[in-house]
Amino acid sequence: MVTPSDKLPSLSEQNIVLTGFMGIGKTTVGKCIAELLARDFMDTDNVITSRAGKSIPKIFAEDGEAHFRLLERELAHELVGKGGLVIATGGGMLVDNSSREAFLAHSFVVCLDGTPELIQQRLANSKDRPLAANWREIFEKRREIYAQIPVHVSVEGNTPEQTAKEIIELWRSKF
Ligand code: S3P
Repeated sequence: MVTPSDKLPSLSEQNIVLTGFMGIGKTTVGKCIAELLARDFMDTDNVITSRAGKSIPKIFAEDGEAHFRLLERELAHELVGKGGLVIATGGGMLVDNSSREAFLAHSFVVCLDGTPELIQQRLANSKDRPLAANWREIFEKRREIYAQIPVHVSVEGNTPEQTAKEIIELWRSKF
């Protein structure tokens, strides 16, 4: 008999999911991991913008942040049922309790960390992030939420490839 847990991907088949603050490098590191593991890569912001047919600033301006968060939550729950992907999430996706819990239960989730100085540098020229202007306040508010992710990797002083390799080693050590 096939039980629901039989249908869940085994650990080696689970999605590798990157979270962490905006600008930390989830997309660059995620692409690197995908290349090293010959897996498909997905960036949740890209999926949302291509489905909506408009940019994130436009979604925020025309439909509101709450609508963007709803699209994120729907996508998170859709992706939980898939396997074998490397997924770079938008920095707010796993702030949502139900999305975070769903990913944590069914994927290998890694939170990328960096200092406020690094974030500031990375966001200095950001034009496509509606929340970039308030990043310090949001950074403080999200600290405790990101702290609930069991696996953290610092990007400080590392190239994206070094960070990617560190994540792959951690992931392999789990099975
Ligand atoms: C957001 C992060 C962005 C994007 C949106 C909101 C956030 O993605 O999803 O602008 O709330 O942290 P990145 O983390 O890729 O910048």
